Amino acid sequence: MTRATPPPLQPIGPRSYDSETPNASRMYDYYLGGAMNFTADRELAERAKTVLPCTPSLARLNRSWLRRVVDICLDAGINQFLDLGSGIPTVGNVHEIVQRRVPDGRVVYVDYDATAVTHARKILEDNENAGIVHGDIRDPDGVLHAPEVRALLDFERPTGLLMVGILLYVGPEYDPAGLVATYRDACAPGSLVPISVITTQLVADQDPVTHKQILDLIGVYHDASEQIHPWAPDDLRSWFTGMDMLDPGITVLPEWRPDGALEADNDSAARLLGIGGMGRVRGADTPDPSDL
Ligand SMILES: C[S@@+](CC[C@H](N)C(=O)[O-])C[C@H]1O[C@@H](n2cnc3c(N)ncnc32)[C@H](O)[C@@H]1O
Repeated sequence: MTRATPPPLQPIGPRSYDSETPNASRMYDYYLGGAMNFTADRELAERAKTVLPCTPSLARLNRSWLRRVVDICLDAGINQFLDLGSGIPTVGNVHEIVQRRVPDGRVVYVDYDATAVTHARKILEDNENAGIVHGDIRDPDGVLHAPEVRALLDFERPTGLLMVGILLYVGPEYDPAGLVATYRDACAPGSLVPISVITTQLVADQDPVTHKQILDLIGVYHDASEQIHPWAPDDLRSWFTGMDMLDPGITVLPEWRPDGALEADNDSAARLLGIGGMGRVRGADTPDPSDL
């Protein structure tokens, strides 16, 4: 049974280890086929899959989009990344994508989940160009002044500021537009900012069955430690103030510069649920982003 009302607001700050309460990080890991999850996570993830069978497909489409946008940042010459809400390390981690092409490329992950942080610390042990902050992205000051960020990133140079699959967990009471603006202002002109979220708006118009399913999924997450907040394409668009949008603007994830991967998922009901867009932080000298 889902709770009748959402749980109370959680305080801002890192989460300590809790295997009893299902959380977004470990459920996402389960959808992607990872092993860093517990019985409580698996049970709730299975309930999520019962109400919205394409949930794993939605996770894979988002993960594939993450890979594509990191590649575009690298194509633009960006070699340092701040990955907000990075999740449990799994196949295709940002530091792997980056350092395969730029061996000394720098990556700082941020997640408030203890499982994600412990696992990331372990795999990054010998990687002097990557680190993780155990912090809450709703505390930008804490994140931007974290020792790992200060040691590895130089905000005088363009940064890949990744907000992929994270702002769906940040409700309006935490002002996602204001958070994006604060992180944007910390980054040099020319920085690239990809953001993806979940929307219910497109299925409301085009696919009533999936619309009912995604609303049920949001209800299932009332029993997790994070709540899902869907956003309309216009909300997402409004977060890119002070940036120029890269083509094709805001679209569903499989239509944003597709590269042929995940063709089966591209046709799933999930295709209308994830949307994303990428902006370039504007400065006096930044050219029109049509070069990207
Ligand atoms: C769905 S995963 C996304 C992982 C990765 N960015 C991707 O797109 O594949 C979202 C992650 O955000 C983390 N998260 C949610 N709210 C957060 C917050 N306020 N601060 C830091 N991390 C948060 C969760 O713990 C989870 O690991």
